[in-house]
Amino acid sequence: MSSNNCKAVKVLDVMQLGHSSPGEEIVELRLEHPGWKSWRAGQFVMIRPLSWPLDLVWGRPFSISKGDDDSLTLLFQVVGRGTARLLELQKGESVSIWGPLGNFFTKPKDRPVLMLAGGMGIAPFSGYVDTHEQPENLKLFFAHRPPLENYPYAEIARKVEAEEIQEKKPEDIQDIIARVESLIEDLADKDGFVVACGPTPFLKTIKAAAERYGVEAELSLENRMACGVGACLGCVTKDTDGHHTQVCTTGPVFKSTDISLEG
Ligand SMILES: Cc1cc2nc3c(=O)[nH]c(=O)nc-3n(C[C@H](O)[C@H](O)[C@H](O)COP(=O)(O)OP(=O)(O)OC[C@H]3O[C@@H](n4cnc5c(N)ncnc54)[C@H](O)[C@@H]3O)c2cc1C
Ligand code: FES
Repeated sequence: MSSNNCKAVKVLDVMQLGHSSPGEEIVELRLEHPGWKSWRAGQFVMIRPLSWPLDLVWGRPFSISKGDDDSLTLLFQVVGRGTARLLELQKGESVSIWGPLGNFFTKPKDRPVLMLAGGMGIAPFSGYVDTHEQPENLKLFFAHRPPLENYPYAEIARKVEAEEIQEKKPEDIQDIIARVESLIEDLADKDGFVVACGPTPFLKTIKAAAERYGVEAELSLENRMACGVGACLGCVTKDTDGHHTQVCTTGPVFKSTDISLEG
């Protein structure tokens, strides 16, 4: 599944979505296709522009958001030094990307699939929708901070059933939790399946509800990573037996019953 395939590709486009505050921009980065045979939704790349200074040693991990024959698109939020530098990329500039890395979301046949996305966790679901053979079985639930235009929600909602909820104030989190729980409960007697990506508290809610109602769920983790390929132990987390496991090589997608999410 994983490969350490490193390629230099050109930037095709850097497009800021919506209207975020400076320092929190959400950006679509379209890259020349690296020539991989294939990739699967849920996999990620490590990216490092050739122009980065030597003290920015490590690349940064991002889900593959979508792709076609000519390009690959990443969706990222500016949160720190690396992502601020990615925002400054110019068309035609060269970046190194390693990938496709990690495992991927299952696409079960003939079962309703609920995609649960929190904030930037929406990134892998563009590609999931585009590559699923039965999009009529998919539903997206998207919890996020406004404005909605910052995210590729409308593009997904044109293709599959979709619902969104905004976190405008801290109390809204209770509504998000209640809705996630009721959507998962609804799947229990339909042999439904959950795929989820987002902040850890969001994933904890999903894990607890999926286990309570006996619904199969896969969670994509976004632990901090340095090497991205199993060499540095920077990304370890605990499985449900208390053993350490590397998110970059055994994940980033885990069965909810296999992973602890605590500590
Ligand atoms: C498999 C995987 C897929 C990812 N996919 C996406 C994606 O599609 N879109 C996207 O916007 N982000 C994604 N991330 C998170 C992204 O890698 C980080 O936001 C990015 O590396 C931050 O780099 P930086 O140099 O700008 O921030 P830094 O300067 O390194 O850190 C700035 C701040 O961000 C926090 N931070 C750094 N990395 C993470 C992380 N992994 N999770 C939470 N907080 C972090 C730091 O604690 C710090 O507060 C993904 C992470 C993983 C592991
Ligand atoms: S990031 Fe280095 S081992 Fe996972």
